Amino acid sequence: MPLITSSEMFKNAYKGGYAVGAFNVNNMEIIQGIIEAAKEEKSPLILQVSAGARKYANPIYLRKLVEAAVEDSDLPICLHLDHGEDFEICKACIDNGFTSVMIDGSKHPFEENIRLTKEVVEYAHARGVVVEAELGRLAGVEDAVSVSAKDATYTDPAQAVEFVERTGVDSLAIAIGTSHGAYKFKGEPSLDFERLQEISSRLEGFPLVLHGASSVMPEFVAKCNEFGGELPGAKGVPEDMLRRAASMGVCKINIDTDLRLAMTATIREYLTKNPAEFDPRKYLGPARDAIKGIVSHKIKNVLGSSNTL
Ligand code: G3H
Ligand code: 13P
Ligand code: ZN
Repeated sequence: MPLITSSEMFKNAYKGGYAVGAFNVNNMEIIQGIIEAAKEEKSPLILQVSAGARKYANPIYLRKLVEAAVEDSDLPICLHLDHGEDFEICKACIDNGFTSVMIDGSKHPFEENIRLTKEVVEYAHARGVVVEAELGRLAGVEDAVSVSAKDATYTDPAQAVEFVERTGVDSLAIAIGTSHGAYKFKGEPSLDFERLQEISSRLEGFPLVLHGASSVMPEFVAKCNEFGGELPGAKGVPEDMLRRAASMGVCKINIDTDLRLAMTATIREYLTKNPAEFDPRKYLGPARDAIKGIVSHKIKNVLGSSNTL
């Protein structure tokens, strides 16, 4: 099966009240772990590549690894650019076989975000590629969030409707309190579900995207810390909140940090317990298994996309 866009995946997810996982990939072991999990769970899949991943691995290596994954797995896979910051990077990915790109104009004023997003949408749609955009800023708002602080950074429901209508974008990343990385909340985790409800009821049938959706699983944080790491106070989005979001029009849930933590915890543990080992396969193998384990868990217990193929 060739790479596909996310259109059909999102239609099914929306109808079924589940979300498709979008997992960040940077090397072979990460890709293999994710693919093995999705195969076993019979789940659709989005593999996403950031600008940093392209720089680290060289775009052609990642593309060829994903091609291998497609050939090896026969799964419906969408290859997506994560956080494209300008037209040029989106164009490069579209020209190189990606089936989906994100143009992240969220740092720009509303009108500039619309202009940039439209430019990418026109280029992408003419080539059968779909586009995700972002409205609102993801940087976590501090505890004791005031209404005005939320209004300044979180996605405005009325603007979301105008943005989608004027850009023709295929999906929209929204800001409701999540943020990237391992330190998402200082106090109790909380997401603005009222706002999500308002956005999804105004945009009925339209797929929303949640970035910064790692749960920062305590067992992996603890393992990192036990074996020489230093991650005090790491905290993510509780899984029940993600399940709730998936039932409210969020069709794509982005996960990167959880994979990083699972991989790092496993390698730290292995090297601490086996100080004489220096064959990378000895620790990258278990790290790949850990990626598979966490992705299976997400698909089965959080996203709800098992057995939907
Ligand atoms: O949204 C950010 C993703 O976790 C990708 O991170 O830019 O370090 O590759 P990166
Ligand atoms: P996390 O840092 O929560 O994994 O978010 C990843 C993400 O949003 C990638 O775009
Ligand atoms: Zn993101």
